[in-house]
Amino acid sequence: MLFGLNHSLKARVMKKKINWNAMLPKHIAIMMDGNGRWATQRGLPRTAGHFAGMKTMKNTIRFCKKNNVEYLTLYAFSTENWKRPRSEVDYIISLINEFVTDDTLDDLNRNNIRINFIGDISRFSLETQNMMNNAAALTKSNTDMIVNFAVNYGGRNEIVHAMKLFLKDGSHELSEEEFERFLYTSECPYPELIIRTSGEKRLSGFLLWQSAMSELWFTDEMWPSFNEYLFYKAIYEFQCRKQYA
Ligand code: IPE
Ligand code: IPE
Ligand code: MG
Repeated sequence: MLFGLNHSLKARVMKKKINWNAMLPKHIAIMMDGNGRWATQRGLPRTAGHFAGMKTMKNTIRFCKKNNVEYLTLYAFSTENWKRPRSEVDYIISLINEFVTDDTLDDLNRNNIRINFIGDISRFSLETQNMMNNAAALTKSNTDMIVNFAVNYGGRNEIVHAMKLFLKDGSHELSEEEFERFLYTSECPYPELIIRTSGEKRLSGFLLWQSAMSELWFTDEMWPSFNEYLFYKAIYEFQCRKQYA
């Protein structure tokens, strides 16, 4: 029925279907997958897909903020992604470096958004680590939304890392509550909704502990094609599921 209507109209129609007074996800986590295929389908190099994906990511942060999402976790680079060709890895890291420079930081600060890096960032160059730490420090007091940027992130890696910290601390008996204080996401509630683009239906190591009760929502669209309409659709379907939960 909506065929032929432009995207913003489609988005507005979908937005109206949501009950904004009922349960909404406070924490949304997104697996931004399909950049490479998006580019290949267009006869472009995979790097062009990553470039387009970065634009989509910035746009997504904007409309999540506009719609009062309090926590947004974005899977940008996994512990497994080092196995890709060096040139692709370098390009993705250069995009991440660019993301944590002044322009984006100004934007985040203007919008009262705090950025955190989750994952083992020690594997990146010192320069990249400094930029990440700097971005986290400069946005630390922003209070409207927390964006967790998952880089060199793997759920098993996170659990082992947390367990090491727990053992080192040594002051409490092991329980779920005591253990999860050491996860990278300890300041955030669990994600109520996890979105994966590109038609793949795996967690690929994403938030293994935190996803225990999350609703999972998949779309066949590649990440660069993700948009506000799909965001509202995910929230709408999340609410439909919750009505019968
Ligand atoms: C997601 O897109 C971005 C990263 C994993 C860095 P992909 O690069 O995985 O794209 P596909 O899945 O190969 O199409
Ligand atoms: C998952 O995507 C990680 C990110 C979105 C960054 P991948 O494309 O790396 O995962 P697999 O290889 O399909 O499991
Ligand atoms: Mg992929």
